[in-house]
Amino acid sequence: MSAMPVKAMMQVPLLDLKAQYADIKSDMDQAIHRVLDSARFIGGPEVSGLEEEIARYCGTPHAIGCASGTDALLLALRGLEVGPGDEVVTTAFSFFASAGTIANVGARPVFVDIDPRTYNLDPHRLEAAITPLTKAVVAVHLYGQCCDLTAIKAVCDKHQLFLIEDAAQAIGSEWEGRRAGSVGDLGAFSFFPSKNLGAAGDGGIMTARDAALAERVRLLREHGAKPKYYHALVGTNSRLDALQAAILRVKLRHLDRWSEKRAKNAALYDQLFEGAKLTRPYRDARTRHIYNQYVIRLPQRDALRQHLADRGVGTEIYYPVPLHLQQYFAPLGYREGDMPQSEAAAREVLALPIYPELTEEQIRYVAACVRDFTDLT
Ligand SMILES: Cc1ncc(COP(=O)(O)O)c(C=O)c1O
Repeated sequence: MSAMPVKAMMQVPLLDLKAQYADIKSDMDQAIHRVLDSARFIGGPEVSGLEEEIARYCGTPHAIGCASGTDALLLALRGLEVGPGDEVVTTAFSFFASAGTIANVGARPVFVDIDPRTYNLDPHRLEAAITPLTKAVVAVHLYGQCCDLTAIKAVCDKHQLFLIEDAAQAIGSEWEGRRAGSVGDLGAFSFFPSKNLGAAGDGGIMTARDAALAERVRLLREHGAKPKYYHALVGTNSRLDALQAAILRVKLRHLDRWSEKRAKNAALYDQLFEGAKLTRPYRDARTRHIYNQYVIRLPQRDALRQHLADRGVGTEIYYPVPLHLQQYFAPLGYREGDMPQSEAAAREVLALPIYPELTEEQIRYVAACVRDFTDLT
């Protein structure tokens, strides 16, 4: 394997939020000071303003802010009264929260293997996982690409199941022209800083089509109180705070530009990886992919990761262990080999830097480092 000359070495982190802040610093600083001056830290016009803007952006009548993407999933499940005795079907290949929240409300996660091209739940395997105890499906839009919502929604309708979209990685992604979070009963979004729309801390939001359901999850996020100090429900404290909302409103104005730049970066990588011994991300023509992650796959993934680290390139593995093999879920009785596509993906996927502020020179450098490895192995 040829070593890169030290002179040519660049630093390309997986994500560079300092570059993003530099781009929008004065608007961000103004928004922060507007909240500090107002001293309205909980609720108020920043939070309701963001909720209206996100509802419009996602094409849903309602959006309800909360403390994280995890809480958005948890509150969605609680809003739909999913609990002990219920089964919830979801993908075997996602962040732990997609299934951890199902267990957290006392229900049983039932895993379905993925389509190896998109890494999303394989809709053809969904129906076989449904039993008389199934109450809902959590469909995850992994890496920023919507899963097959037409097929999944048809199965949910046929079996009268609720559909929750885990759109934590997919704000602005579309399935056949419909935005992520607008097809299911509820959508759950994360504002974790690494997302396309990221806060300066934790945050999340739920989208809802039905007014009564929106009202229920709104109550659940604030101890179920209505009016204040009168509790017909037990909920929790999971509010999105005004500082985060103000920051997110500034960033929302740039979101489409950023997501388009990510897609442009992806197109350049695709071109530079033409003919390379690796699998490039597959884009389903029915989706708008927002490239929260650009994920390649190859059998020698771990060696490539080390090769890139040695050359100053940050990468990440989303995710090294499929959900059905997580230690916590061992009592569910899944075994290695049960979800072969998810297990192979966990061994082979690698996310490369894709953030909007990357320069063409950086992308060419990362691609050259990757090819330096794949062309010689
Ligand atoms: C698919 C998915 N679901 C849920 C979450 C949870 O979001 P949060 O980290 O905001 O709690 C994440 C966050 O990384 C995620 O990627």
